[in-house]
Amino acid sequence: MKKYLVTGGAGFIGSNFVMYMLKKHDDILIVNLDKLTYAGNLENLKSIENDKRHIFVQGDICDKNLVRKLFAEYGFDYVINFAAESHVDRSITNPEIFVTTNVLGTVNLLQCAKEAWYDGEKWAEGKKYLQVSTDEVYGALGETGFFTETTPLNPHSPYSASKASADMYVQAFRDTYKMPVNITRCSNNYGPYQFPEKLIPLMINNAKQLKSLPVYGDGMQIRDWLYVEDHCKAIDMVCSGGKLGEVYNVGGHNERPNIFIVKKIIEILSDKVSPEINESLIKHVEDRKGHDRRYGIDPEKIKNDLGWYPETPFEKGIVLTINWYLENEEWMNRVTSGAYRDYYKEMYKNRM
Ligand code: NAD
Ligand code: DAU
Repeated sequence: MKKYLVTGGAGFIGSNFVMYMLKKHDDILIVNLDKLTYAGNLENLKSIENDKRHIFVQGDICDKNLVRKLFAEYGFDYVINFAAESHVDRSITNPEIFVTTNVLGTVNLLQCAKEAWYDGEKWAEGKKYLQVSTDEVYGALGETGFFTETTPLNPHSPYSASKASADMYVQAFRDTYKMPVNITRCSNNYGPYQFPEKLIPLMINNAKQLKSLPVYGDGMQIRDWLYVEDHCKAIDMVCSGGKLGEVYNVGGHNERPNIFIVKKIIEILSDKVSPEINESLIKHVEDRKGHDRRYGIDPEKIKNDLGWYPETPFEKGIVLTINWYLENEEWMNRVTSGAYRDYYKEMYKNRM
């Protein structure tokens, strides 16, 4: 039986990943270590709460004693690190926690895995540390070209600087100790359980309430969108088949300007919910500081080496996503009560 330490598995991608893995593989054990910050939500894991192959532990990836204890108790084969502060806007107003969790937390996990798997000369067989990273570490693109695995790291936001730093520590452990690692760098994800601070769920939530839709700047910034399950599939494939030490970019060549995404959401909701949801709700607001203009992933390596390909085209994925949010109104109401309201007021007060 393969044993996984999955961190951040109560967040958006992590919870989708844990559910994906339990559906895909019978004989596995997943210990899910998550601090349950504002972005972590046990409700995301409701469908697997009685699954004996999944053990949830509330805790911090920076907590050395706890992580050591988990290694001693379970003897993991794999560590897959999703845990992070993940929102660029929050990193602009409060960068310190991004360094703590994303950099120090990663180094703590690397150290604990090294203690458990390395005897000073050789690594135990079949072990791997997988760092879930992001295309944002490469910086921004002009109108042409794509990020490949050899594009130099050139992060711009405090968030991407912390993720690039974490990647460099993973590579340092690879180069210094020959640690068995992989790094995946994926483009923007969308799908069920995404916290409504991010573009797509925020726009769905606001539009449903006929609130303004705050598009930063001219809305012509480009992101490369991938349905979350396709990202989960890629991580599973890299974990089981990725060549040790390698970086794999993950993306589906689905570049869209933000304004296109917002108009698409309006079009679908106008049809499904009310014609009152229309483009008059769009409000161009103050731009994000240091806003990266364009991201675009070249996924040829993971396609050629591991046979990965995205299964959900955007036109289908966005409808699946909107349907999920419409069917899970209670989830949205719960996550947007309390602290979210304060966050929204603070983040958008000078923009709107
Ligand atoms: P998220 O913010 O939805 O979830 C993060 C999770 O990490 C939450 O459950 C939170 O409680 C947990 N967490 C935070 N700090 C922790 C700590 N110190 N110890 C333990 N748990 C902690 O993020 P997400 O969008 O699901 O992203 C997951 C990972 O994927 C991140 O590493 C992110 O950088 C990366 N990523 C995200 C995207 C995207 O589009 N969302 C794309 C590429 C890569
Ligand atoms: O590229 C991968 C990254 O994608 C991940 O590493 C990050 O964790 C994830 O948050 C995401 O970062 P972005 O900054 O691209 O995602 P966000 O949803 O915050 O914004 C997407 C685009 O939409 C971006 O250009 C900013 C814009 N935007 C966002 C919000 C929240 C708006 O125009 N209005 C908004 O209200």
